[in-house]
Amino acid sequence: MKISKEILKWYDSNKRDLPWRITKNPYKIWISEIILQQTRMEQGIYYYNRFISKFPNLESLATAEEKDVLIIWQGLGYYSRARNLYYTAKHIFHELNSKFPESYEELIKLKGIGDYTASAIVSICFEKKYPVLDGNVFRIISRIFEIKNPIDLNNSRKVFKKKASELMPNTRYGDYNQGLMDFGSMICKPKKPLCSSCLVSNKCSAFKNELVTFLPVKTTKNKIKILYFDYLVVNNANHMLIEKITDGIWKNLYQFPVKMSSSKKNRSEVVKFFLKKYNLDSLSLRIINSKPIEHKLSHILIKSTFWFTKEKLQIKNGLFTTILEDYPMSKLMHKFSEKYHGKYIFSEVKMVN
Ligand code: ADE
Repeated sequence: MKISKEILKWYDSNKRDLPWRITKNPYKIWISEIILQQTRMEQGIYYYNRFISKFPNLESLATAEEKDVLIIWQGLGYYSRARNLYYTAKHIFHELNSKFPESYEELIKLKGIGDYTASAIVSICFEKKYPVLDGNVFRIISRIFEIKNPIDLNNSRKVFKKKASELMPNTRYGDYNQGLMDFGSMICKPKKPLCSSCLVSNKCSAFKNELVTFLPVKTTKNKIKILYFDYLVVNNANHMLIEKITDGIWKNLYQFPVKMSSSKKNRSEVVKFFLKKYNLDSLSLRIINSKPIEHKLSHILIKSTFWFTKEKLQIKNGLFTTILEDYPMSKLMHKFSEKYHGKYIFSEVKMVN
C-alpha cells in the first residue's frame, strides 16, 4: 500500500479528538493553526477554546480592541501572532467584505499567513492539494527518505517540499495533512519513536539503516543570549506606573518601566537611567529580588531585577492604573506579580494558564 494510503488508514482509526476538527470554518481553522505554531497541543487546545469563546467569528475579532485580543493571548508567547491575527481579521472585514479567501495565492498575501498556514487552511477547509510542512512532516520525510539536509536551513525547504508533494494522495488532502501531523506527534516522535508499531517502517530508509534517532539533522543550535532587565516598581497609593511597549516581541503589551541591557547593571546605573528618563532630581531604589527572576525565550534568557521606590513620583503623561488585570502583560511580569503581590503591588495579576 502507498505511504499516503497507510497514513489515511492510520488516521481514520487513531486521529485525535481536537476541538477544531468538528468544523471546516476557515476562520476557526486559521485561529487553530496560528495558535498551534510553537505551542504544545494541550496548551493549544486551552487557548483555542478560550479564543473562540471570546471571538467566535471574524467580525467579533475585527471589531475588538487590540488590548482585549492580547489579554486573551497572555501567557502563550510569540505575541506577533496575535497582533497579526488582529490586523488580518480587520483587513478581511474592511477590505474583503468579510469574505475569507479560499485560495492559497490569496491567503499567502495576508499578514501572518505563510506557506504552512495557507496550505493547512486550503487543504482542511477547501480540499485543495497543498502539502503542509511543519516540524512533524519534516521529521517523517527526513526519516522515510533518509534526507540529511538540515531542516533549519532555508534551502533545504525545496527538497522537503518536493518530497512532500510527491507523497500526497489524490484525495482527502485535509485529512492526510492532519494525519501526518498526528502520526508525527504520536508515532514518528522526535525522541523514542514507536517504530515497532509504525505502519510504514517497512518503507522507511532510516529504519532500515538504523538512523531513525539521528534524523532529522539540524545545524548546531544558536547560542543563548543573556539580557538583563531592571524594572522600576512605582506604587503611588495603589496606582501602579506602567508603560505600553512600543516595539519588539512584546509590542503593545504593558510592563513596569524597564532598563534593558546586555550586561548586568548596578544600582547607581539603574538610578541614573531612570533619573534621566523621567527628568528627576533624585531617586532612591530598594532592590526587591536579589536573585534575578529568569524568563526564557527561544534564544534569549532574561534575568530581571525589580527595584522599588517609595517616592511618589510625579511622572508627566505617566500611565498609572489600579487594575493591572486590564492590561495585557508578559509572563515575566506575571511571574513577578504572583510572587510579590500584596507587598509591592496591591493586586495579583492572574495568569490565565
Ligand atoms: N498541529 C498544527 N496543526 C495541527 C492540526 N490541524 N492537527 C494536528 N496537529 C496540528
